[in-house]
Amino acid sequence: MTAQIIDGKLIAQQVRAEVAAKVAERTAAGKRKPTLATVLVGDRPDSAAYVTSKGKACQELGMGSISEHLPADAAQEQVETLVKKLNADPEVNGILVQLPMPAHINEERVLALIDIEKDVDGFSPINIGRLAQKGREPTFVPCTPYGCIYLLEQAGVQIEGANTVVLGRSNIVGMPAALLLIGKNATVTVCHSRTRDLPGIVRQADILIAAIGKTQMVRGDWVKPGAAVIDVGINSVPDATKKSGHRLVGDVHFDEAKEVAGFITPVPGGVGPMTIAMLMKNTLHAAEIQDP
Ligand code: GUN
Repeated sequence: MTAQIIDGKLIAQQVRAEVAAKVAERTAAGKRKPTLATVLVGDRPDSAAYVTSKGKACQELGMGSISEHLPADAAQEQVETLVKKLNADPEVNGILVQLPMPAHINEERVLALIDIEKDVDGFSPINIGRLAQKGREPTFVPCTPYGCIYLLEQAGVQIEGANTVVLGRSNIVGMPAALLLIGKNATVTVCHSRTRDLPGIVRQADILIAAIGKTQMVRGDWVKPGAAVIDVGINSVPDATKKSGHRLVGDVHFDEAKEVAGFITPVPGGVGPMTIAMLMKNTLHAAEIQDP
C-alpha cells in the first residue's frame, strides 16, 4: 500500500485564502488591519528567516506587521519593556516572541508577560494551562500543533479513540500536541529520548506525530500499516545534487514509511507551511477578540 500524501502546502494555501478574505471583509468595514508584532532577540539565521517569513505572510494576506529586533546581548529588562510596550499598543493585535532566545534571557518570564489576548503563539502559561485542563478553552492554540491537528482533520483521519504517539515533548510542539490530542479524546503516549523500545511503542500508533528533531529516525518498520504519520521534523542534510548543497528531511524516513502508512506528510510541504498559516489565523482571531 502507498500512503495518501497530505499536502500541507495546499491546505495552508486554503487557510491563508480564508484568512485573507476575512481580513478584507474587516478592512472594507473600516476596521484596522489585524497586525502582528514579531520580536527577535539576537541573530540566529534560522530565527531571522522565520520572522521574515511571518512578516511576509502578513503582507500577503493584507495584514500589518511590525518587526522588532534586539541585539543578542539585550538585557532581560529591555526585552520585557518591549513586550510591555507592544501589550499597550492598540495597533498591535498579536505578539510573537521568536524562540529560542539567547540563554541569558528568562524565556518563561517574557512569555508570561504577553497579554493573553495578544498571545498568538499560545505559549503563555495561562494558555497552556487552559489547554491542559478539561472543559477549558485556550484563547490561542500553539501554531505547529494546531497545524498538525488541522491536517489530520482535513485528511479525514479519526482522532477520537485513536492510539496516538507523540514523539518529542518540547514546549513548542510535542507537549501542546499531546494536550490537544487528549482534548480530542485520543489515547496519547508521549515518547522521548529516554523511552524504552521506541519502535515497539510507535508501531502501536494509529496516529504518529514525530517532533523529535532527529533525521529520518522513524523507519518504515516502525509504522503501523495504515497509520497517519505527521512529520514535524525539519533537518538539513548534505546533498551534492542541490545548488544549496543541502536538502530538508523529516524525522521520518519518508520513502520507507509511505509504503506502510495510510497517510503521511512530506518534508518539505507538510507541517512547515501550516505553522505560518495557523499563526495568521490566530492573528485574525486576536483582532476579532479585541475589535469584534
Ligand atoms: N521557534 C520554533 N518554532 C517556533 C514557534 O512556533 N513560535 C516561536 N515563537 N518560536 C519558534
